[in-house]
Amino acid sequence: MIKKINEIAATVKGFLPKNKNDVEVFRIKYLGKSGVLNQLFEEFKNVPVEEKKEIGRSINNLKEQLKNKISSFDFSEKKNQNTNFEDLTKKVKVNNLGSRHPLSIIEEEIIEVFSSIGFSVAEGPEIEDDWHNFSALNTPEEHPARDMQDTFFIQSDPSILLRSHTSSVQVRHMENNSPPIRILSPGRVYRNEAISSRAHCLFHQIEGLYIDKDVSFADLKKTLLFFAKKLFGENSKIRLRPSFFPFTEPSAEVDVYWGLKNENDYRITKGTGWLEILGCGMVDPNVLENCGIDPKKYTGFAFGMGIERIVMLKYKVDDIRLFFENDVRFLKQFNFSL
Ligand code: PHE
Repeated sequence: MIKKINEIAATVKGFLPKNKNDVEVFRIKYLGKSGVLNQLFEEFKNVPVEEKKEIGRSINNLKEQLKNKISSFDFSEKKNQNTNFEDLTKKVKVNNLGSRHPLSIIEEEIIEVFSSIGFSVAEGPEIEDDWHNFSALNTPEEHPARDMQDTFFIQSDPSILLRSHTSSVQVRHMENNSPPIRILSPGRVYRNEAISSRAHCLFHQIEGLYIDKDVSFADLKKTLLFFAKKLFGENSKIRLRPSFFPFTEPSAEVDVYWGLKNENDYRITKGTGWLEILGCGMVDPNVLENCGIDPKKYTGFAFGMGIERIVMLKYKVDDIRLFFENDVRFLKQFNFSL
């Protein structure tokens, strides 16, 4: 009989219920009126007196074991609701992930294109002084070119302003480094413009600067063509139109070919099929000199573009204000990169 009791004890030990019902069935089977335990007590009556002590203890141990086993499983709902422990294996439905801002996506894409040909990122302050934003860039006071960009000046000290382009970062970098220089300066810039679907008082720029011995206009053109192909596709074409910036000579504006497939193309390219994407030129020798670089030894090119404009072209966004309103319906459309 001891053997039988041990066998039952082993089965009880291995019992693993899946739910509340399993436990109940188990309880009735072993502790029920005509269950296993009561049958054992029945048999116990016939056990010879000299074995009664040992077998009696075994049956009582089994009874204890059964009770402990049953109470160790608690499937009651109340208990589950109150528990602080989450089931870590449970599948979770994630439906509220945010998305990256389109400006960040394109900024990163542009940086990636230029890093692949050796440019690195340089940053600088958004609150600038007159020297870094204008004077060092060949734009002295009273220079009419200052009117090109309506600037926000600090009222109590007009020599302090909100930078109107990130060329200021290029000046800072040239002052503190010697050629060869290959940098990109992305960042927020401010201009005192009336807010409309095409213009905002703040936007983002990314500017590039390359200074070394024998850098030529051909290098500039090839670099920009490489960039346009990477960003807008291998078949992209660019054209350079003569322009003017105080800090570059010669200067150019760069258009990318957009096409004239539909009415909208006619509208946004004003019927030409070309869209302006950036300004560029050979760094004016005066600028190099202002920043402590010998213009007889070194030449360089610079370019600058508005990131909003590039995003608007690439994703056909028709109102610049959308970038700053944080409307999730707009932003959610860009979570493809996650
Ligand atoms: N800084 C110019 C702007 O803000 C862009 C530019 C940069 C043009 C470098 C030429 C060279 O419009």
